[in-house]
Amino acid sequence: MTGGDDTSWGVSLGAPGWAPPSVDLKTDVPHSARVYDYILGGKDNFPADRAAGEITAKSMPGVARSMRANRNFMARMAHILAAEHGIRQFLDIGTGLPTEPNLHEVVQKAAPESRIVYVDNDPIVLVHARALLTSTPEGRTAYLDADFTDPESILKSEQLTSTLDLSQPVALSLIAIVHFIPDETLIQNVIDRLMAPLASGSILALSTVTADYAPEPVAGGVAAYRANGISMTARDRTTVEGFFRGLEILEPGVVLVHRWHPDEDAAGYGDNESFMYGAIARKP
Ligand SMILES: C[S@@+](CC[C@H](N)C(=O)[O-])C[C@H]1O[C@@H](n2cnc3c(N)ncnc32)[C@H](O)[C@@H]1O
Repeated sequence: MTGGDDTSWGVSLGAPGWAPPSVDLKTDVPHSARVYDYILGGKDNFPADRAAGEITAKSMPGVARSMRANRNFMARMAHILAAEHGIRQFLDIGTGLPTEPNLHEVVQKAAPESRIVYVDNDPIVLVHARALLTSTPEGRTAYLDADFTDPESILKSEQLTSTLDLSQPVALSLIAIVHFIPDETLIQNVIDRLMAPLASGSILALSTVTADYAPEPVAGGVAAYRANGISMTARDRTTVEGFFRGLEILEPGVVLVHRWHPDEDAAGYGDNESFMYGAIARKP
């Protein structure tokens, strides 16, 4: 499903005649985007995803609350980057199914001229991409069907080159995606490759699963995902900090997502209730 003819799947606001492409959704096996959607209370999932979601919820008590903490981290991070750091361009890989507020809605509320390229490798996200293309007239959104582990296909895509100006800062957003990739060296190399052409002042924003504070539920959740055929790896703080090599990690560092610039909702979380680390870092 990944790769293919990028241009034919390039979808931008106002593109005449765009319709969801015909794809094989493989509805008989669980997919991470749909399991996440089911646990968050969404409707874009199938019986195999719901069964996997139920097993995960039983094995990982509190998973829905933790996922909400991650989603809220994404929204706070996006708002702060747009409103306080002046970032106007976002490359969001591992977008997931449209869930309000989507990243472009958050950043365009603060800065309507913002441009966002969304990337995911799941065909169900591609089918629902229209809901991600509701850009303001001043800004632009684009969707690319591609795989994180193939950074060249992302960097060379028409969607990226026609939407983002790489001479200006870009925020690379990797929210709740790298825990699906077991190989840490691969993750680091892909991040290095994606950050390399970005201008000084660009940002890496990342969140990923950790078992540092809630070892039992997270071990249960990791086992449940793996039993359903979805790779999942929990990582400690030092390993997560390693994903930001060569970058300046900004305050408050790599912390549980609810501890990152908390709003009222995040402040109500205990440290054993959000199972993810999050941080942002600036390219010198
Ligand atoms: C848990 S969802 C996170 C969605 C959103 N970023 C959020 O945090 O709310 C993970 C998303 O990453 C996507 N994904 C997983 N592995 C990927 C890969 N190798 N390349 C691109 N997308 C991937 C899945 O399809 C899914 O939509």
